[in-house]
Amino acid sequence: MGNRTEEINRRRTFAIISHPDAGKTTLTEKFLLYGGAINLAGSVKGKATARHAVSDWMEIEKERGISVTSSVLQFEYDGYCINILDTPGHQDFSEDTYRTLMAADSAVMVIDASKGVEAQTRKLFKVCVMRKIPIFTFINKMDRDANDTFDLLDDIEKELGIATCPVNWPIGSGKNFKGVYDREKRCVISYADTEKGTKEGTATEIPVQDEGHLREMIGEEAADKLLEEIELLDGASAEFDLELVRKGELTPVCFGSALTNFGVEIFLKHFLEMATAPLPRRADVGLIDPVENEFSAFVFKIQANMNKAHRDRIAFMRICSGRFDAQMEVRHVQGGKVMRLSQPQQIMADERKILTEAYAGDIIGVFDPGIFSIGDTLCMPKDKFRYEGIPTFAPEHFARVRQVDTMKRKQFVKGIEQIAQEGAIQIFQELNSGLEEIIVGVVGVLQFDVLKYRLKNEYNVEIRMENLPYEHIRWIENKDQVDLDKLVGTSDMKKVKDRKGNPLLLFVNSWSIGMTLDRNKGLELTEFGRD
Ligand code: G4P
Repeated sequence: MGNRTEEINRRRTFAIISHPDAGKTTLTEKFLLYGGAINLAGSVKGKATARHAVSDWMEIEKERGISVTSSVLQFEYDGYCINILDTPGHQDFSEDTYRTLMAADSAVMVIDASKGVEAQTRKLFKVCVMRKIPIFTFINKMDRDANDTFDLLDDIEKELGIATCPVNWPIGSGKNFKGVYDREKRCVISYADTEKGTKEGTATEIPVQDEGHLREMIGEEAADKLLEEIELLDGASAEFDLELVRKGELTPVCFGSALTNFGVEIFLKHFLEMATAPLPRRADVGLIDPVENEFSAFVFKIQANMNKAHRDRIAFMRICSGRFDAQMEVRHVQGGKVMRLSQPQQIMADERKILTEAYAGDIIGVFDPGIFSIGDTLCMPKDKFRYEGIPTFAPEHFARVRQVDTMKRKQFVKGIEQIAQEGAIQIFQELNSGLEEIIVGVVGVLQFDVLKYRLKNEYNVEIRMENLPYEHIRWIENKDQVDLDKLVGTSDMKKVKDRKGNPLLLFVNSWSIGMTLDRNKGLELTEFGRD
């Protein structure tokens, strides 16, 4: 028991989010380096190939050279057991990216210092805010010319609506990058362009009071600027408050350079101290405590055909409480069955490892013979609770889909329903029609290609797609109080229903959403669907 508590309390499970190219992969590799999970030589050089090996499960990925799926990495550092949930780095990311955030206890946000907050960061951030999970910011690429530091922080505060608290402060950037000032220790850590891919070099630390030495190290001009900025900063920035960090209202910010490995270990250390161990999670019987309760988990992702030869599906689950043992029997609550999980495994960077045990905070993948759905709960045979469902995230692209060969209606419906059940796409129907007209909604347009590819390869069905102009979808929060027939929207609005029969509205632009709300007093719309 003591061991189980210790194991759970040393776990830190976080998702790493960024706009593509901000340096997420590079930062993750440096984290792994500190944990000794990968060897030095292979890390940087083999990056491109290693990255593809992680999730190269479909031809489409190979053809496009991008990663469609997300993967999980586990490593040990300083007594902690860390799970990093990686998210697809391409612009055409999917709902999997959102769902991954549901399985994490905190998030690391990587921002390119010359770009500030970018579109994708904004979207993912919204989900973090909804979940109120702590967010730790790493402002990367300080070895390149960066935006003004105060502007960068302002940008985060305005764009994302979260207060910032710099942990360290950069001195110059690009060619003039001299290092960072550590606010807690009140000293300057000089920048050393340590060999790429190796551990951090021996950077010099100079107490800021030692002004003579400081001026000598970073130059008169930089020293003047720094001293002035420190004064400003101490007066102006939000007071550090761990409570606010843990509620997701204040983000600690570190500056550094992942590529040259500067500031990475400091960030990792700070972050591990501040991040929480697995927290209680809400179920229909109340909160489930990770330590007090025995095994329970929920499915947050289903991935089909990772191994083409076997046509298997892997269900990824986040363990929320207790200890998992490969031999034990568990209850699949939604399926109403008690079973042994088949081939439990940990999906590491480039290999799958069969697991014998795992703890709350860990992510495991199990063979799925087609019985699991996103959001399903697993627990001990004696238990029967269900975790709160994972929200359905609003798709942003819509198309009407038909099969080319009308004789293949059955396969078409079966295929599209199965793919929707995995959560790879969302399907909708016009309010008063059957399945003859299917509207598919996706978060990233690449999912359309995936759908087309999979229907052809797995179900032997060719489809025709007609893009629809809608960009926004809203679930009706108070559907029981709304008379759908009487609801008046804009002329370009469309009423549809999802697979469970929930009514939804499709809009071409956000203006129409406002207009519809104005015209229908009392109507409540939401971007996140729940079962
Ligand atoms: P991502 O996963 O967020 O998409 O970004 P990734 O780490 O792949 O980094 C994107 C590019 O930015 C890479 O260059 C990477 O080397 C570079 N980069 C990452 N961190 C830093 C940094 O701190 N400083 C500088 N100057 N560059 C950084 P690339 O040329 O696209 O790829 P590669 O050929 O280096 O692999």
